[in-house]
Amino acid sequence: MKAARFYDRGDIRIEEIEQQKLEPGTVRIDVAWTGICGTDLHEYLDGPIFVPAHGHPHPISGEDAPVTLGHEFSGVISEIGEGVTDLAIGDHVVVEPYIIRDDVNTGPDSNDYHLSDDMNFIGLGGRGGGLAENIVVRERWVHKVDKSVALDEAALIEPLSVAYHAVKRSGVQAGQTALVGGAGPIGQLTAAVLTALGVKVIISELSPLRRQKALDAGVAEVALNPAETDVVAEVKKLTGGKGADVAFECTSVQVVFDTLMDAVRPTGVIVVVSIWGKLASFDMHKLVMKEIDVRGTIGYVNSHPDTIALVESGKIDLKPFITGKIRLEDLVDKGFDTLINHNETAVKILVSPTGQGL
Ligand SMILES: NC(=O)c1ccc[n+]([C@@H]2O[C@H](COP(=O)([O-])OP(=O)(O)OC[C@H]3O[C@@H](n4cnc5c(N)ncnc54)[C@H](O)[C@@H]3O)[C@@H](O)[C@H]2O)c1
Ligand SMILES: [Zn+2]
Repeated sequence: MKAARFYDRGDIRIEEIEQQKLEPGTVRIDVAWTGICGTDLHEYLDGPIFVPAHGHPHPISGEDAPVTLGHEFSGVISEIGEGVTDLAIGDHVVVEPYIIRDDVNTGPDSNDYHLSDDMNFIGLGGRGGGLAENIVVRERWVHKVDKSVALDEAALIEPLSVAYHAVKRSGVQAGQTALVGGAGPIGQLTAAVLTALGVKVIISELSPLRRQKALDAGVAEVALNPAETDVVAEVKKLTGGKGADVAFECTSVQVVFDTLMDAVRPTGVIVVVSIWGKLASFDMHKLVMKEIDVRGTIGYVNSHPDTIALVESGKIDLKPFITGKIRLEDLVDKGFDTLINHNETAVKILVSPTGQGL
C-alpha cells in the first residue's frame, strides 16, 4: 500500500510498503481522511522530535525512522482481529493516537495516562500512521463515530480533543469570557469548544482570513488584529474593565504570552497550548501581584467520548475549518508547502491516502 514515510528532517517519501499484520485485539481501518498537523511540520522542519531517529528505536513501539506519518485521521473498519467485541466491519471510527506502556492504566477512570513515561503518538513514534491506505490499531484507541458525521469532519476530532482538554484545564465556566491568542487550527478549535460550552470568546490573530473564519464559523464574538488594536485595552473594554477570566496561548510567540498576562483579570488562568521550542520569559512580579495561574496542557485524556458527542449532537460544526483536500502524492508540495509558506491562506488541509473523495 502507499504511505508517507518520515526518514529525516526535510526527507518525507511517498512509497509502497507492506501493510501491518492484524493481531488479536486490533482492527484494520481503511483511512478516509488525515489532517496535516503543526507537529508534522515541526518534524519536517526541525525534527526528528517525536519521531525516533534512525538507530534510536522508541522504547515502547521498538520502531525508528522511517515511520509512517499521520495522527489525525478517520476511516472505516475493514477487518476485525480475534477478541474484538465492541467494533464491527463497516464502523466509522477515529483514533486516539497514543503509544503508551502496557502497564499504564488507560481505563475510563484514569486522568493521567497521557503523562506516562515515554508516551508517544501513532503516526510519529511508530505503529503505522494515517498517511497510509490503512492502519492496524488496538481496540482501546479506536472510537466509533456515528455515520451522520461526515468522515472528513471526523478527521478533525483529534485536534478538537486537544482543544477540549485545554479548555478543561482552564476550569472556565459558562458565561465567562476567554481570550484566545492565535487562530490557527488549535486556536479555532479551542474557540469552538469554548463557544459550545457557553463561554464568550475574543480572538487575537494576525491573519485576516483566520479572523474572518472564526467569525464566520461563529466561534468568536470578537476577532482583534493585534497589529492595529491594543488588545489589552479592548479586552478590558469588553469585560467591564475587569479582564478576561481565562486565556489560551496558541502561537508560541512571546509577545502573545505577554499580552495574555496583561489581559487576564486578577486570579485569571492562562493555558499554554502551543509547543515552545525555546525558553520563554515572563513577568514574575505580575504573576504574583495578579495571582495568575499559568497551566500547561498536552494531548487529551479520556476526552474523545466527549468531543465525539459534541460533534454528533451538532454543538460543534467542524466543516468550516477544512480549507483544502489533497492527494497523498501532493503531501509535501501542496500540503506542507502551503502550511509552511502561506499558512494565512489555510486552516486544516486534509489528505486522502487512497485518492477517494477528491
Ligand atoms: N499542547 C498540545 O497538546 C498541542 C497539540 C497540537 C498542537 N499544539 C501546538 O499548538 C500550537 C498552535 O498550533 P496551530 O496548528 O494552530 O499553529 P498555527 O501556526 O497554524 O497557528 C498559530 C497562529 O498564531 C498566529 N499568530 C502569530 N503571531 C501572532 C501574534 N503576535 N498575535 C496573534 N496571533 C499570532 C498566526 O497567525 C497563526 O494563525 C503549535 O505550537 C502546535 O505545535 C499543541
Ligand atoms: Zn496533531
